[in-house]
Amino acid sequence: MADYYLLFGPPGVGKGTQADRLEKTLDLAHVATGDLFREHLKKNTPLGRLARSYIDHGALVPDDVTIGMVAERMTDPDTQKGMLLDGFPRTVAQADALSKMLADRGQKIQRVLFITAPKDVLIERLGHRMTCSNCGTIYNAQTQLPKNARVCDVCGGEVIQRSDDTPDTQRKRIEVYLEQTIPLVDYFEQRGLLVTIQGEQSIDRVYDDLLHAIEAAKKTG
Ligand code: AP5
Ligand code: MG
Repeated sequence: MADYYLLFGPPGVGKGTQADRLEKTLDLAHVATGDLFREHLKKNTPLGRLARSYIDHGALVPDDVTIGMVAERMTDPDTQKGMLLDGFPRTVAQADALSKMLADRGQKIQRVLFITAPKDVLIERLGHRMTCSNCGTIYNAQTQLPKNARVCDVCGGEVIQRSDDTPDTQRKRIEVYLEQTIPLVDYFEQRGLLVTIQGEQSIDRVYDDLLHAIEAAKKTG
Protein backbone atom coordinates (compact mmCIF):
# COMPACT_ATOMS: atom_id res chain seq x y z
CA MET A 1 0.00 0.00 0.00
CA ALA A 2 1.35 3.47 -0.88
CA ASP A 3 1.76 6.14 1.81
CA TYR A 4 -0.57 9.14 2.01
CA TYR A 5 0.17 11.85 4.60
CA LEU A 6 -1.47 15.21 5.15
CA LEU A 7 0.51 18.25 6.25
CA PHE A 8 -2.18 20.18 8.05
CA GLY A 9 -2.03 23.51 9.89
CA PRO A 10 -2.51 27.28 9.75
CA PRO A 11 -1.08 29.71 7.17
CA GLY A 12 2.64 30.31 7.72
CA VAL A 13 3.22 27.40 10.10
CA GLY A 14 5.74 25.78 7.74
CA LYS A 15 3.78 23.18 5.73
CA GLY A 16 5.48 24.03 2.43
CA THR A 17 8.93 24.31 4.02
CA GLN A 18 8.63 20.86 5.55
CA ALA A 19 6.97 19.27 2.51
CA ASP A 20 9.88 20.38 0.30
CA ARG A 21 12.28 18.46 2.55
CA LEU A 22 10.06 15.44 3.23
CA GLU A 23 9.20 14.78 -0.41
CA LYS A 24 12.89 14.18 -1.13
CA THR A 25 13.46 11.97 1.91
CA LEU A 26 10.31 9.93 1.49
CA ASP A 27 10.03 9.99 -2.32
CA LEU A 28 6.37 10.97 -2.28
CA ALA A 29 4.56 13.36 -4.63
CA HIS A 30 4.15 16.78 -2.96
CA VAL A 31 0.65 17.99 -3.82
CA ALA A 32 0.00 21.52 -2.51
CA THR A 33 -3.28 23.07 -3.57
CA GLY A 34 -1.91 26.61 -3.05
CA ASP A 35 0.97 25.81 -5.44
CA LEU A 36 -1.42 24.26 -7.99
CA PHE A 37 -3.60 27.39 -7.90
CA ARG A 38 -0.52 29.62 -8.28
CA GLU A 39 0.53 27.58 -11.38
CA HIS A 40 -2.90 28.23 -12.88
CA LEU A 41 -2.61 31.95 -12.01
CA LYS A 42 0.76 32.14 -13.73
CA LYS A 43 -0.60 30.45 -16.88
CA ASN A 44 -3.72 32.63 -16.70
CA THR A 45 -6.03 29.62 -17.17
CA PRO A 46 -9.81 29.98 -16.55
CA LEU A 47 -9.32 28.13 -13.24
CA GLY A 48 -6.50 30.53 -12.34
CA ARG A 49 -8.68 33.56 -13.12
CA LEU A 50 -11.49 32.16 -10.99
CA ALA A 51 -9.15 31.28 -8.10
CA ARG A 52 -7.47 34.71 -8.06
CA SER A 53 -10.57 36.47 -6.75
CA TYR A 54 -10.63 34.16 -3.72
CA ILE A 55 -6.88 33.89 -3.08
CA ASP A 56 -6.25 37.63 -3.16
CA HIS A 57 -9.02 38.10 -0.57
CA GLY A 58 -7.71 35.30 1.65
CA ALA A 59 -10.88 33.25 1.09
CA LEU A 60 -11.09 29.56 0.26
CA VAL A 61 -11.67 28.64 -3.38
CA PRO A 62 -15.02 26.78 -3.64
CA ASP A 63 -14.89 23.09 -2.73
CA ASP A 64 -16.04 21.75 -6.11
CA VAL A 65 -13.29 23.65 -7.95
CA THR A 66 -10.59 22.61 -5.45
CA ILE A 67 -11.66 18.97 -5.31
CA GLY A 68 -11.81 18.81 -9.14
CA MET A 69 -8.27 20.20 -9.36
CA VAL A 70 -6.93 17.63 -6.87
CA ALA A 71 -8.80 14.79 -8.62
CA GLU A 72 -7.09 15.79 -11.86
CA ARG A 73 -3.67 15.95 -10.19
CA MET A 74 -4.29 12.48 -8.76
CA THR A 75 -4.47 11.06 -12.29
CA ASP A 76 -0.72 11.83 -12.68
CA PRO A 77 1.34 8.62 -12.39
CA ASP A 78 3.71 10.05 -9.73
CA THR A 79 0.84 10.11 -7.21
CA GLN A 80 0.66 6.28 -7.32
CA LYS A 81 3.81 6.03 -5.18
CA GLY A 82 2.04 7.98 -2.41
CA MET A 83 1.43 11.64 -1.66
CA LEU A 84 2.27 14.36 0.78
CA LEU A 85 -0.78 16.60 0.68
CA ASP A 86 -0.15 20.20 1.77
CA GLY A 87 -3.04 22.62 2.30
CA PHE A 88 -5.70 20.08 1.29
CA PRO A 89 -8.22 19.23 2.66
CA ARG A 90 -9.34 22.45 4.34
CA THR A 91 -13.05 21.71 4.77
CA VAL A 92 -15.07 18.67 5.82
CA ALA A 93 -16.42 18.37 2.25
CA GLN A 94 -12.84 18.24 0.94
CA ALA A 95 -11.83 15.66 3.56
CA ASP A 96 -14.80 13.43 2.66
CA ALA A 97 -13.97 13.78 -1.05
CA LEU A 98 -10.32 12.87 -0.45
CA SER A 99 -11.23 9.76 1.55
CA LYS A 100 -13.49 8.66 -1.28
CA MET A 101 -10.88 9.33 -3.98
CA LEU A 102 -8.31 7.32 -2.04
CA ALA A 103 -10.78 4.51 -1.27
CA ASP A 104 -11.54 4.28 -5.01
CA ARG A 105 -7.90 3.35 -5.55
CA GLY A 106 -7.78 1.01 -2.53
CA GLN A 107 -5.84 3.52 -0.40
CA LYS A 108 -6.33 5.61 2.72
CA ILE A 109 -4.78 8.47 4.68
CA GLN A 110 -2.03 7.11 6.97
CA ARG A 111 -1.61 10.14 9.25
CA VAL A 112 -2.58 13.78 9.52
CA LEU A 113 0.49 15.72 10.66
CA PHE A 114 -1.00 18.76 12.39
CA ILE A 115 1.68 21.45 12.72
CA THR A 116 0.54 24.21 15.03
CA ALA A 117 1.96 27.50 16.35
CA PRO A 118 0.64 30.65 18.09
CA LYS A 119 -0.85 33.39 15.93
CA ASP A 120 2.00 35.88 16.57
CA VAL A 121 4.52 33.34 15.25
CA LEU A 122 2.41 32.85 12.09
CA ILE A 123 2.11 36.59 11.46
CA GLU A 124 5.86 37.06 11.96
CA ARG A 125 6.72 34.26 9.52
CA LEU A 126 4.22 35.31 6.86
CA GLY A 127 5.41 38.91 7.14
CA HIS A 128 8.94 37.87 6.17
CA ARG A 129 8.22 35.07 3.73
CA MET A 130 9.58 35.32 0.21
CA THR A 131 8.81 32.83 -2.57
CA CYS A 132 10.41 32.01 -5.91
CA SER A 133 7.96 33.09 -8.62
CA ASN A 134 9.24 30.29 -10.85
CA CYS A 135 9.72 27.11 -8.74
CA GLY A 136 8.00 28.10 -5.47
CA THR A 137 11.07 27.63 -3.22
CA ILE A 138 10.34 29.29 0.12
CA TYR A 139 12.67 31.87 1.72
CA ASN A 140 12.49 34.23 4.65
CA ALA A 141 13.71 37.83 4.60
CA GLN A 142 14.96 37.49 8.19
CA THR A 143 16.21 33.95 8.52
CA GLN A 144 16.61 32.35 5.09
CA LEU A 145 17.57 34.73 2.31
CA PRO A 146 18.66 33.52 -1.14
CA LYS A 147 22.43 33.82 -1.68
CA ASN A 148 21.92 36.58 -4.28
CA ALA A 149 19.19 39.09 -3.44
CA ARG A 150 15.90 38.17 -5.13
CA VAL A 151 17.48 35.36 -7.22
CA CYS A 152 16.35 31.82 -6.40
CA ASP A 153 19.22 29.51 -5.34
CA VAL A 154 17.46 26.54 -6.95
CA CYS A 155 16.34 27.79 -10.37
CA GLY A 156 17.56 31.40 -10.76
CA GLY A 157 13.93 32.66 -10.84
CA GLU A 158 12.84 35.94 -9.26
CA VAL A 159 12.15 35.76 -5.52
CA ILE A 160 9.09 37.85 -4.65
CA GLN A 161 6.45 38.36 -1.97
CA ARG A 162 3.29 36.32 -2.63
CA SER A 163 0.33 38.51 -3.63
CA ASP A 164 -1.66 37.11 -0.67
CA ASP A 165 1.07 37.99 1.85
CA THR A 166 -0.17 41.53 2.49
CA PRO A 167 -0.97 42.19 6.19
CA ASP A 168 -4.76 42.35 5.59
CA THR A 169 -4.88 39.14 3.56
CA GLN A 170 -2.65 37.31 6.05
CA ARG A 171 -5.02 38.20 8.87
CA LYS A 172 -8.02 37.15 6.78
CA ARG A 173 -6.39 33.80 5.91
CA ILE A 174 -5.81 33.05 9.59
CA GLU A 175 -9.46 33.98 10.36
CA VAL A 176 -10.70 31.71 7.57
CA TYR A 177 -8.50 28.91 8.90
CA LEU A 178 -9.99 29.29 12.39
CA GLU A 179 -13.56 29.35 11.05
CA GLN A 180 -13.52 26.80 8.25
CA THR A 181 -10.53 24.52 8.65
CA ILE A 182 -10.05 24.04 12.40
CA PRO A 183 -13.17 21.76 12.61
CA LEU A 184 -11.08 19.20 10.75
CA VAL A 185 -8.92 18.74 13.86
CA ASP A 186 -11.84 16.97 15.58
CA TYR A 187 -12.75 15.20 12.35
CA PHE A 188 -9.29 13.61 12.04
CA GLU A 189 -8.90 13.05 15.77
CA GLN A 190 -12.14 11.04 15.84
CA ARG A 191 -10.71 8.88 13.07
CA GLY A 192 -7.49 8.26 15.03
CA LEU A 193 -5.33 9.93 12.39
CA LEU A 194 -4.12 13.13 14.07
CA VAL A 195 -0.56 13.70 15.34
CA THR A 196 0.21 17.18 16.70
CA ILE A 197 3.63 18.71 16.01
CA GLN A 198 4.88 21.88 17.76
CA GLY A 199 5.54 24.22 14.83
CA GLU A 200 7.21 27.06 16.77
CA GLN A 201 10.39 24.98 17.04
CA SER A 202 13.26 25.38 14.56
CA ILE A 203 12.81 24.03 11.03
CA ASP A 204 15.16 21.12 11.82
CA ARG A 205 13.33 20.18 15.04
CA VAL A 206 9.92 20.25 13.32
CA TYR A 207 11.35 18.10 10.53
CA ASP A 208 12.70 15.55 13.05
CA ASP A 209 9.32 15.40 14.80
CA LEU A 210 7.55 14.86 11.48
CA LEU A 211 9.91 12.04 10.47
CA HIS A 212 9.44 10.47 13.88
CA ALA A 213 5.64 10.58 13.52
CA ILE A 214 5.87 9.06 10.04
CA GLU A 215 8.16 6.26 11.25
CA ALA A 216 5.71 5.54 14.08
CA ALA A 217 2.84 5.44 11.57
CA LYS A 218 4.72 2.95 9.41
CA LYS A 219 5.22 0.65 12.42
CA THR A 220 1.67 0.79 13.75
CA GLY A 221 -0.13 1.00 10.38
P1 AP5 B 1 -1.61 28.07 0.58
O1 AP5 B 1 -0.57 28.36 -0.42
O2 AP5 B 1 -1.86 26.67 0.98
O3 AP5 B 1 -1.31 28.97 1.84
P2 AP5 B 1 -1.55 28.71 3.42
O4 AP5 B 1 -2.24 27.52 3.89
O5 AP5 B 1 -2.13 30.00 3.84
O6 AP5 B 1 -0.16 28.36 3.92
P3 AP5 B 1 1.13 29.10 3.57
O7 AP5 B 1 1.66 28.56 2.26
O8 AP5 B 1 0.91 30.56 3.70
O9 AP5 B 1 2.08 28.64 4.80
P4 AP5 B 1 2.96 27.36 5.02
O10 AP5 B 1 2.41 26.61 6.17
O11 AP5 B 1 3.19 26.59 3.75
O12 AP5 B 1 4.33 28.06 5.50
P5 AP5 B 1 5.74 28.16 4.75
O13 AP5 B 1 6.41 26.83 4.73
O14 AP5 B 1 5.60 28.91 3.48
O15 AP5 B 1 -3.00 28.66 0.09
C1 AP5 B 1 -3.09 29.94 -0.49
C2 AP5 B 1 -4.52 30.23 -0.90
O16 AP5 B 1 -4.94 29.28 -1.92
C3 AP5 B 1 -5.57 30.08 0.21
O17 AP5 B 1 -5.69 31.25 0.98
C4 AP5 B 1 -6.83 29.80 -0.63
O18 AP5 B 1 -7.32 30.97 -1.22
C5 AP5 B 1 -6.30 28.90 -1.72
N1 AP5 B 1 -6.35 27.48 -1.34
C6 AP5 B 1 -5.27 26.66 -1.15
N2 AP5 B 1 -5.68 25.43 -0.79
C7 AP5 B 1 -7.03 25.48 -0.75
C8 AP5 B 1 -8.02 24.52 -0.41
N3 AP5 B 1 -7.69 23.27 -0.05
N4 AP5 B 1 -9.32 24.89 -0.46
C9 AP5 B 1 -9.66 26.14 -0.87
N5 AP5 B 1 -8.77 27.11 -1.16
C10 AP5 B 1 -7.46 26.78 -1.10
O19 AP5 B 1 6.54 29.07 5.83
C11 AP5 B 1 6.21 30.42 6.06
C12 AP5 B 1 7.50 31.21 6.41
O20 AP5 B 1 7.98 30.74 7.68
C13 AP5 B 1 8.66 31.01 5.43
O21 AP5 B 1 9.34 32.24 5.28
C14 AP5 B 1 9.58 29.96 6.10
O22 AP5 B 1 10.94 30.15 5.75
C15 AP5 B 1 9.32 30.27 7.58
N6 AP5 B 1 9.39 29.08 8.42
C16 AP5 B 1 8.79 27.87 8.21
N7 AP5 B 1 9.00 27.03 9.23
C17 AP5 B 1 9.74 27.72 10.15
C18 AP5 B 1 10.28 27.38 11.44
N8 AP5 B 1 10.08 26.19 11.99
N9 AP5 B 1 11.00 28.34 12.08
C19 AP5 B 1 11.20 29.58 11.53
N10 AP5 B 1 10.71 29.95 10.32
C20 AP5 B 1 9.98 29.03 9.63
MG1 MG C 1 2.47 26.76 1.78
